[in-house]
Amino acid sequence: MPTPTALAHEKVVVVDFGGQYAQLIVRRVRELGVYSEMVPWNRLPEGFPDNATRAIILSGGPMSVTEPGAPDFDFARVPESIPILGICYGQQLMAHRLGGRVERASEREYGRRHLVESARGSLVEGLASDQVWMSHGDQVLAPPPGFEVTASTETCPVAAFEDRIHNRYGLQFHPEVSHTPDGRTVLKRFLFERVRLSGDWTSESFIEESLDRIRAEVGDRRVLCAVSGGVDSSVVAALVSRAVGERVTCVFVNHGLLRKGEAEDVVRVFSETFHPNLVVIDAAEQFFAALKGVTDPETKRKIIGAEFIRAFEAHADELKGCDFLAQGTLYPDVIESGSATAAKIKTHHNVGGLPDWMRLKVIEPLRWLFKDEVREVGRRLGLPDEMVDREPFPGPGLAVRILGEVTPERVHIVQEADAIFRGEIRARDLQSGIWQSYAALLDVRSVGVMGDERTYQNPIVLRAVQSEDAMTATAVPFEFSFLEHVASRIVNEVAGVNRVLYDLTSKPPATIEWE
Ligand code: XMP
Repeated sequence: MPTPTALAHEKVVVVDFGGQYAQLIVRRVRELGVYSEMVPWNRLPEGFPDNATRAIILSGGPMSVTEPGAPDFDFARVPESIPILGICYGQQLMAHRLGGRVERASEREYGRRHLVESARGSLVEGLASDQVWMSHGDQVLAPPPGFEVTASTETCPVAAFEDRIHNRYGLQFHPEVSHTPDGRTVLKRFLFERVRLSGDWTSESFIEESLDRIRAEVGDRRVLCAVSGGVDSSVVAALVSRAVGERVTCVFVNHGLLRKGEAEDVVRVFSETFHPNLVVIDAAEQFFAALKGVTDPETKRKIIGAEFIRAFEAHADELKGCDFLAQGTLYPDVIESGSATAAKIKTHHNVGGLPDWMRLKVIEPLRWLFKDEVREVGRRLGLPDEMVDREPFPGPGLAVRILGEVTPERVHIVQEADAIFRGEIRARDLQSGIWQSYAALLDVRSVGVMGDERTYQNPIVLRAVQSEDAMTATAVPFEFSFLEHVASRIVNEVAGVNRVLYDLTSKPPATIEWE
């Protein structure tokens, strides 16, 4: 895996102490037009902070700064020319390390509080809303020498502090969450008034920079673009095509695990409206053969990943001078493969999940972007809405929505049920705000009755979620009558299904996909 060099933007580094909102801080900073990256506290890169780093934000975290072995940060490493903002654990660590006092609060403070600000000209002065979101066990009782307390709440004596001379700022509350209605102003003041950033992170600047990078890396060689019809790979294809023109070949491998009518759709949208140079490889037989008898989710993923690469490499061999495979890895994949606390949940990330025998060199032009940024770049590149607004669909396709063995017959059942569910959503215009919706087939059987006959078949689970970035999600609150109608259609129209369930679970603790 190549180690990509940094982007040439002014950058704010968010040091992750394992806080649940660390990634949200990165998103909020980017929404304000400033490029931001997340780095785990225990894996700071050599030479940190580098020349592009204009400010550092220390995230929240679940630990107590007073515990032995708690996540730490060497403040001496950062020159005063680089402002630091500590949020929650970050603020406590700043107080603890710079000579203030931090103690365990008598009870955990969690939820909405109201700020009383006491300092003019501070980050928190005169906010339109004084409501802030707190979530902490420890709290700062005395700021370090030279710091001024700029706000408190009824229960928290040091809700904000700052040392403007030395460019160090701290907030006990979370400005990044929507429960702090004016948190954006606090972040904006920090970025543009204290750090004096220009806000050079835009989709146009990203596109320009990406084109230069791709051209420099690929030189005069050819690139194979893995496309699935999804937004990520389509945007990659659009970028790479713009960068190297005719020297890109888009390859769509139909693994037989797509939704009903999807392969035809992808080929139509792709060739009609976007890229004529599309090769379609029908590999369903190979995939089904490789998946025969396999029931373990991770093994399924590995087999499918390897079959994909086999298909791409076989095609690349036919093209002379093709050394690169471009794919649509996104920033959350990169984060999830290396965050401070995240255990590996699923190997759905392209990062690190590729077989070691592969010959092609991988390029990942979107590895710095969140999904909404990818959509914006896609729009800027002129991709049709039909492509840009598509629901995410996992690379292993229906294989991770079929619990147990994946066979053509079981794929057919899921395809039919899924088409009914999603068709009804569209027919009633319910799709807006839905991140993903799908049908999954379980591998338990239950008894039912149809006509006078007893049935013993598998249930279908319907899942539809709302989400901002797939890291968290909640179930879509459909009307009961809608679900009942869909359930009735599925059991009547899809042979092999005698029961339909709706999944109400949020992520966490569940995940979006069933496997
Ligand atoms: P989970 O199920 O982890 O899914 O909550 C989060 C997002 O990732 C997608 N997903 C995958 N995408 N290969 C992919 O390309 C995979 O193996 C995979 N597993 C999950 C999922 O659809 C959701 O958008």
